[in-house]
Amino acid sequence: MKKELLEIIGGGQLEGKVKMHSAKNAVLPMLAGAMLTKEEVTIKDCPHISDIENMFKIRDILSLGTKWQGRDIVAWGSVENNHIPESLASVMRSSVFMLGPLLVETGDVKLHLPGGCKIGARPIDIHLDGLEKLGAKIDILDNSVRCRATALKGADIVLRYPSVGATENLISASVKAKGDTTLIGVAREPEVVSFCDMLVSMGAKIKGAGTSVIKITGVDNLHGTTIKPSTDRIVAGTVLLAVALTGGRVEILDFDINHLGALVTKLISKKMQVVSSLDNMIIESDGDVAMFDISSGPYPKFPTDLQPIATAVMCQGKGRCIIEENVFENRFSYIGELRKMGANISVADNCALVNGTGLVGANVVANDLRGGAGLVVAGLGARGVTKVEGVEFIDRGYENIENLFGNLGAKISRKQL
Ligand code: UD1
Repeated sequence: MKKELLEIIGGGQLEGKVKMHSAKNAVLPMLAGAMLTKEEVTIKDCPHISDIENMFKIRDILSLGTKWQGRDIVAWGSVENNHIPESLASVMRSSVFMLGPLLVETGDVKLHLPGGCKIGARPIDIHLDGLEKLGAKIDILDNSVRCRATALKGADIVLRYPSVGATENLISASVKAKGDTTLIGVAREPEVVSFCDMLVSMGAKIKGAGTSVIKITGVDNLHGTTIKPSTDRIVAGTVLLAVALTGGRVEILDFDINHLGALVTKLISKKMQVVSSLDNMIIESDGDVAMFDISSGPYPKFPTDLQPIATAVMCQGKGRCIIEENVFENRFSYIGELRKMGANISVADNCALVNGTGLVGANVVANDLRGGAGLVVAGLGARGVTKVEGVEFIDRGYENIENLFGNLGAKISRKQL
């Protein structure tokens, strides 16, 4: 694979408009759930990112059809293989979304334990516990898991934590199960709501999406659909935080401000202008960063995926703030790289204390998706030139991040290493 880096000349303001595309975290589970029908499912306005390309590869191995039609994805076909090879599962956490639908469609699935970002242990016990309650037999092998079920039966399931992936998997496993399922303590993320919207438009009976309790009545068959997922609140939040840092005025089109409530409330409380009209959001900042504390948590709390980006921004503020990470246990690995840019951050357990110092350009390396985006945003606000290696991690979730910020006036370019 050819290695690339991003070169950023920091210091300029961001100005302009950006239209949000569908959320990666909505499209990925949809590409798994689509196999619950062999008819065509069209998912609108998807980003060209490597996580989605990898999901195409997994679907291909399962003999499922997937193609781009402009910016829409069309998915169709019946599963003819029930084994996701280690080479794909180990690089992609989202392979776990296949578990529920594959179990429904084949009755026997073997899945290598999934990979993804190096941000903690990321077990799948909540997925497996729920599937077992629906009647699956689970065997844990060395580094893989086998799930078998002749017929799944509705059940009452309490999730010990509102895991996004487990919620989506258990919904998939229940929509065609015999009888009623109640899922208690589920994730409330907008992407979960979008996923339920897709299944309902395919004929599923689901109530309560967006609340902590989801009720499902099993149906025999699902049919094809066209769905427009919610737009990407993490990419929108990345832009919003970048503008807080660089200053400027950016309009985000096709985005529901309520999906970023926890961040917007913080910024408004610090006198940053964030206004919304219908589906648009305008952010205006003088670039004078006001520090605020962050405590990440499941939706509607502050999103863990924006934690590294917010930390990068705080490094340019005056004063101190505390960043508390409550979702993943190993999500501060980017901080060593920020220190190369002059950041003054101390870490103890799941808390980081940021002393605002200002940032200067440096050569840094991304080692996970959102940490990498944090380094890019840091570079936009830093004095001088920043070079970010490990771009392949950023490409998992941002569609040409250099264009995203370049179109807003940033001096950022992709170069061969
Ligand atoms: C999804 C998002 C990811 C986001 C995360 C939390 C997608 C494709 N990815 O990931 O961007 O950061 O939600 O908002 O939608 N856990 C367990 N046991 C389980 C499942 C999860 O202990 O069976 C733990 C995980 O280790 C983690 C926490 O629960 O500490 C949250 O994980 P989860 O909500 O499942 O995240 P993902 O669905 O993997």
